[in-house]
Amino acid sequence: MMTNNRKLTAWVKEMADLCKPERVHWCDGSQKENDELCALMVRGGTFVQLNAHKRPGCYLSRSDPADVARVEDRTFICSRRQEDAGPTNNWRDPVEMKETLKKLFNGSMRGRTMYVVPFSMGPLGSRISHIGVELTDSPYVVVNMRIMTRMGQAVLDALGAEGDFVPCLHSVGMPLEPGRQDVPWPCDADHKYIVHFPEERSIWSYGSGYGGNALLGKKCFALRIASVMARDEGWLAEHMLILGLTAPSGEKKYIAAAFPSACGKTNLAMLTPTLPGWKAECGGDDIAWMKFGDDGRLYAINPEAGFFGVAPGTSYRSNPNAMDTIRRNTIFTNVAMTPDGDVWWEDMTDEPPPRLINWLGEEWTPASNKKAAHPNARFTAPAAQCPVIDPAWEDPRGVPISAILFGGRRAGVVPLVHEAFNWRHGTFMGSIMSSEMTAAAAGKIGVLRRDPMAMLPFCGYHMGDYFAHWLSMDKRTDPVKLPRVFYVNWFRKSADGKWLWPGYGENVRVLKWIFERLNAPPGEGDNAVRTPIGYIPKPGALDMTGLNLPEANLRELLKVDTREWLDEIPSIREHYAMFGDRLPAGLNEELAALESRLRQ
Ligand code: GTP
Ligand code: SPV
Ligand code: MN
Repeated sequence: MMTNNRKLTAWVKEMADLCKPERVHWCDGSQKENDELCALMVRGGTFVQLNAHKRPGCYLSRSDPADVARVEDRTFICSRRQEDAGPTNNWRDPVEMKETLKKLFNGSMRGRTMYVVPFSMGPLGSRISHIGVELTDSPYVVVNMRIMTRMGQAVLDALGAEGDFVPCLHSVGMPLEPGRQDVPWPCDADHKYIVHFPEERSIWSYGSGYGGNALLGKKCFALRIASVMARDEGWLAEHMLILGLTAPSGEKKYIAAAFPSACGKTNLAMLTPTLPGWKAECGGDDIAWMKFGDDGRLYAINPEAGFFGVAPGTSYRSNPNAMDTIRRNTIFTNVAMTPDGDVWWEDMTDEPPPRLINWLGEEWTPASNKKAAHPNARFTAPAAQCPVIDPAWEDPRGVPISAILFGGRRAGVVPLVHEAFNWRHGTFMGSIMSSEMTAAAAGKIGVLRRDPMAMLPFCGYHMGDYFAHWLSMDKRTDPVKLPRVFYVNWFRKSADGKWLWPGYGENVRVLKWIFERLNAPPGEGDNAVRTPIGYIPKPGALDMTGLNLPEANLRELLKVDTREWLDEIPSIREHYAMFGDRLPAGLNEELAALESRLRQ
């Protein structure tokens, strides 16, 4: 044992007594420990070591086909009172849920090692960071957590004897009874439970080894539990990327953006601007914790230390910075493998290789009617390896946020970009966000749903109270110091189903317009026109230099169709009805104001 923290040692003992592992291993986070775990997984078939010349320090893992994404219907918020979980979360009584879980965890680690994984969300020792400890029987989780968080002995040192931490218990739910042969990807696919106890600030996860279900520092802690902490303490824990943007003049501003899962955060966070002289640097690609600084502005830190990014679609054309980040020391999960031990996935290259092993471990050729990589295949890579990592990405004070972007996948209705009139209107925009569902969660892909602030699967309490918390920000500081709010949509399609906007590096054109908006006082500046839904770029205000986009596309992209927006109103009203009397009155007023502007 490498700690004298009494709460920790007592909890580890109690959980070991419950889960009955063969042994307990306290992780020090060292390279040696990591190498040993990787070697262990290569021997057991969980990992395939990739070609050391092409992908040094890289491994491929293929999951059980029944364990490939987050499972929202198996994710629970067990607040004492059901109304505190709200209508968007699955609720169970915490006492009953603990009983269920204790039965499942009883002996669940038999024949396995219980790893004690101390981790810090945020730079070690910083005032804004928080410590967690994950107990897991999955070495795959350990090596992923080592990339995604600051993990190991240094965290125990920072914790000290009296420090507090969020206890995170995880088991794949496949005990190895004597004589039972292990499998490469153990899980209990039919009994997954991803459970949060917000008052106790603890997490219990059973049955899945994949991503956000199992790497408990990420969605479970840094979003679901942290959103509750943020509500109580007056800050924001959000599903947002952090981007530093420098204009040709040398002026730099930071932007945070909330897009739903697999809707472009990683890509925007690392974009390669196509406009000359513009520079973009990455502060984080998935989660932002934002707190007020002494100057009254919101400062963001990235609580993570790595990227757990969507592989399919990532290429030297779409995201060269991601491609360079994942050249070494990266774990690939559910991608395809080339005959020479490299990785491949859909759209990584223009032409697929002639032969591959697909994510299921089967022979694959381009004639196959299956995907080579699973649509939610991911890479786990250290953020420090990103060639455009922001110099301030580990600054414990965070970076000052000038603009917040909301966005989602909408084939129609929502224009390429529009700006909110003020903070309350911006909160309204976030609260009605809608997006087509993606493969990041098990469920119906392509179905449109409202995903407020991209937090639908991640808010750890009543979404109506969450809206109220957002609205309260303009009482906590001088409103002019708050970030300005924008809504973007890279995914608008033409009538024949083609993208109207090229996206990726070309998104800098929209960022440039936003940057220019920020340099004029709110509601001023001569680069916008006022519409019923907000400010949109005035004709000619988007810099189109060097882009051969048909004039008709641009018109379609910036179209605000009154009829279509009026058609949205009943569905927004229905969405709001769900929150009952916990929907803040201010949002109903915004809805009424939108409707009356549209009818004028
Ligand atoms: P999570 O990690 O699940 O939270 O997702 P994310 O928001 O980081 O999504 P990511 O950037 O990984 O993008 C997911 C998918 O959207 C990829 O297949 C991308 O190729 C695609 N994508 C990202 N940006 C754009 C864009 O500007 N235009 C288009 N058409 N597709 C994009
Ligand atoms: C998401 O689904 O938003 C992710 C991937 O970032 S996971 O960590 O699996 O939640
Ligand atoms: Mn995410």
